Amino acid sequence: MLRLGVNIDHVATIRNARGTPWPDPLRAARIAEQAGADGITAHLREDRRHISDADIDALMADLRLPLNLEMAATAEMQQIALRHRPHAVCLVPEKREERTTEGGLDVAGNENYLAEYIAPLRDAGSRVSLFIGHEPDQIRAAARIGAAVVELHTGAYCDLDTEGRHADRDAELRGLRDGAALAASLGLEVHAGHGLTFDTVGPIAAIPEIAELNIGHFLIAESVFIGLGDAIRKMRRCMDKART
Ligand code: PXP
Repeated sequence: MLRLGVNIDHVATIRNARGTPWPDPLRAARIAEQAGADGITAHLREDRRHISDADIDALMADLRLPLNLEMAATAEMQQIALRHRPHAVCLVPEKREERTTEGGLDVAGNENYLAEYIAPLRDAGSRVSLFIGHEPDQIRAAARIGAAVVELHTGAYCDLDTEGRHADRDAELRGLRDGAALAASLGLEVHAGHGLTFDTVGPIAAIPEIAELNIGHFLIAESVFIGLGDAIRKMRRCMDKART
C-alpha cells in the first residue's frame, strides 16, 4: 500500500509566530498517527524557522511512527542525525532566503561529497533518502552513491497545475513517471512530495513505483477548516482511490 508521511513543519510555524508552546508538533504527530499516517516528517532547518531541536528530541522520545528527518547535508545536521538515528534521513538542498525547498539536490554535481556524507548515516541504521528532480542523471547518481531512497520533487507539477498550464503539467508528470520507473529499475525505493493537494495527489499516487508520499503544507492549511485528522483521512482516500 502507498504510505503517507505527514510533514508537521507548519504546526511549528504557527507556534513560532507567537512564541507560545502551542500548537505542539508532537500532538499533531499523534493525531496523524490516529488518522492513519504511516510516518512523520520534520525538517530541521539550519535557521530553525519551524521545527526546533527540542521538537526532534520530543518526536524521537515519544513517537511510535517512524520519523523521517529532513535536513541539509551539513556537518551540524549529520551530528544531530547520528545522535538520534531516526528511521530515515532525507537530504534536501537548503537556502536561507527561500520560502520552501525550491529545487532538488544536485547529486550528480556533488557525488563524492554526498557518498562520503551518507555512509555514516547508513551505517547508523537510517534509511537515506535524496530529494531530487526527475532528471535521469540525478537518479543514476543517487543509485551510484548507495542511497536507499529517492524522493521525487513534485513542486513544479503542482505549481503548473495551479497556474493552469496543463500541457506543461502533463509533460512534468511524464517526467515524474519516467523518473520513478528508472529509479525503481536501479533498485531505489521511490517517494514523492512537495506541494501536493487533494486535487493534485491522484496522478502522483497512481504512479505504481511510488511507495510513499510526504505531504505537509496543504494538510496543515486544510486542518484549519476541517481538522487535521479529517484532512489526513481525506488525503488517504484520494491516494487509495488513485491506486484502485
Ligand atoms: N518532501 C520534501 C523533501 C520537502 O522538503 C517538503 C517540504 O518541506 C515536502 C515533501 C512536503 O511539501 P509540502 O509541505 O508542500 O506538502
